[in-house]
Amino acid sequence: MYFCRLYTVMAESIFIPGTLTAKKDRYEALIPQLQALVSGETDFIANLANIMAALKDAMGFFWIGVYLVKGNELVVGPFQGPVACSRIGFGKGVCGTSWKEKRVIRVDNVDEFPGHIACSSLSKSEIVLPAFKNGEVFLVLDIDSEKLSDFDEEDEKQLGAIIKIIERL
Ligand code: SME
Repeated sequence: MYFCRLYTVMAESIFIPGTLTAKKDRYEALIPQLQALVSGETDFIANLANIMAALKDAMGFFWIGVYLVKGNELVVGPFQGPVACSRIGFGKGVCGTSWKEKRVIRVDNVDEFPGHIACSSLSKSEIVLPAFKNGEVFLVLDIDSEKLSDFDEEDEKQLGAIIKIIERL
């Protein structure tokens, strides 16, 4: 029998069926909807804000947001979750290290990452992905969890696809 999964959504709403409990399935339902969500809007911050809200809604992250490169610092941009540190220096914390080293960083236990910046004492594990324009990092996507070792290769792969959407905004 031919079976096709089809999610029809309005451009400004996100629908993830409650039956999708696996992380991979939730990302796969979400990502095409993110693309639709941003397709009708040209404002960079508006699109980032909606992507962060959609990710928080769909994936239930404790904290998700972006830090934008401004001069020699990262400055917090659209995010969802508790109040966060406003500025992070180049090479500082997980975010500043991801920027400096131009790579994804997954931290299973933030207490074991030298120089980790604790915006919330509830945060236990973290993933940070850099986004590039012309070979330079222009922002980092930061996600925190209240659970240890909450991010794996699947998150890295799926969030990498979301970084591609952000790079094209
Ligand atoms: N933990 C991050 C700081 C940002 S907050 O987690 C929102 C870091 O070490 O760079």
